[in-house]
Amino acid sequence: MSQVKRAAYLIKQSKFTVCFTGAGISVESGVPSFRGEDGLWEKYDPSLFEIDYFYKHPDKSWALINKIFFEVLKDKKPNKAHFALAKLEELGYIKALITQNIDNLHYLAGSKNIVEYHGNSRMLVCRNCGRKFNISDFDLSSAPYCPYCKVPLKPDFIFFGEMIQKEVQEKSEQLMNNCDLLIIIGTSGLVYPAAFLPPMAKKKGAKIIEINKTFSEYTDKIVDVFLEGSASEILEEILSELNAH
Ligand code: APR
Repeated sequence: MSQVKRAAYLIKQSKFTVCFTGAGISVESGVPSFRGEDGLWEKYDPSLFEIDYFYKHPDKSWALINKIFFEVLKDKKPNKAHFALAKLEELGYIKALITQNIDNLHYLAGSKNIVEYHGNSRMLVCRNCGRKFNISDFDLSSAPYCPYCKVPLKPDFIFFGEMIQKEVQEKSEQLMNNCDLLIIIGTSGLVYPAAFLPPMAKKKGAKIIEINKTFSEYTDKIVDVFLEGSASEILEEILSELNAH
C-alpha cells in the first residue's frame, strides 16, 4: 500500500486528528523558513530576536522585524497545503491545528480551530499593561509605543527567551493528549518547547503521519507514516485519496 493510501486510511479511521505545522507549509507561499538553505537564520543572527535585545534596542529591533516579517508577510497568500487543511477540517477529518507560524495563512485559508503556538503577526502587545492593539493602527517605520504606558509595543509573537502563553500551552497539551492521529507538516522539530508536543501525542498512543521535504528530528523516532515531498502536492494527493476534492 502506498504511503498516501496508508495516510488516507489512518485519517479515515481516526476519531480525533490534529495537525502540527511549521514554516515548511508556508514556503510555497513565498514565506522563507528559518533553517536550512535560504532559511532566515542563515542570513540573520537569531539573538537579535531575544526578548532582552528587543527592550534594550527597540528601534533597531523594530527596523529588523519590519524588514524580515511584516514587509515579507504583507502580500503573502495561502497555498494549496493551507487550503487542503481547511478543507479536511470542514469535512470533519481534522479537529484542530496547532501552528508554530505567525503568518496568518491558516486563518486566511479558512481553517477555524487554530492554536497559534508562537503568537501572531496581527496584533501588538504592551507587556507593561497587557493591552493588545491592531497592527494596522500603527506606523511601523519606527518603534510603536503604548499610548497608555509609553513603553515600546512588541509584536504579539513569541521572541526567544519568552514563555509560551499559559492558555496556549494548556490547549496544545490537551490536544496532544486527546488526539489519536497527529499530522506533522513542515517543521524541523528543533525548537522547544514546541518540539515537546508531538512526542506527547505519541506517548498517549497516537499514530503519527509526517509530511516534509527532508527528515526532521521526529522522522526516525516517532513517525509511523513518512511522506517525503512538498506539503501542497502531498496534501492534494491525500485529498484525492479521500475523494475530498
Ligand atoms: N513542504 C514540506 N516541508 C518543507 C517544505 C515544503 N515545501 N519546505 C521546507 N520544508 C521543511 C524543511 O525540510 C524543514 O524541516 O520545513 C521545515 C522548516 O523547518 P524550520 O525552518 O526549522 O521551521 P520550524 O520548524 O517551523 O521552526 C520552528 O523556530 O525560529 C523559530 O519561532 C520560529 O516557529 C519557528 C520555530
